[in-house]
Amino acid sequence: MAAEIEIRLTLNGEERSASVEPRLLLSDFIRHEARLTGTHVGCEHGVCGACTVLVEGEPQRSCLMFAVQADGASIETIEGVAPGGELGVVQQAFHEAHGMQCGFCTPGFVMSLTALLRESPDASDDEILDSLSGHLCRCTGYVNIIEAAHLARARVNGGA
Ligand code: FES
Ligand code: FES
Repeated sequence: MAAEIEIRLTLNGEERSASVEPRLLLSDFIRHEARLTGTHVGCEHGVCGACTVLVEGEPQRSCLMFAVQADGASIETIEGVAPGGELGVVQQAFHEAHGMQCGFCTPGFVMSLTALLRESPDASDDEILDSLSGHLCRCTGYVNIIEAAHLARARVNGGA
């Protein structure tokens, strides 16, 4: 077994340090070490988008990163966008627009859309589609997910 490496990172605003094996995936660190199981792992090779978290505010597939690569970084997971256990604006929109069925893919969609709307609150329909294009959903047919995204955009801009 390879020697463990000390890492320090900020996880949903809290500083953490840990000793990890060099090959530990960030997704496994989040789920198994930090016990934040809202981040889902589907394909584990960068295809489905379910494991998406924000690294320094940018959506990243946590199954394609080693935990050691997150040393010094600020990471946000789906738990971090539900302040005080209340649904965040994007989560609420998914709930109201029925943007999920089994919910397996949902955390990834929510994280990518959260990042987009923070950076571009008035993102165009095409920008929304582009930001969600790397996410697979095997249940919904995507129609209600797009509706949820449009609802979230309207809410972020003070409407709906
Ligand atoms: S689990 Fe990471 S992209 Fe599918
Ligand atoms: S809601 Fe089931 S995979 Fe998307």
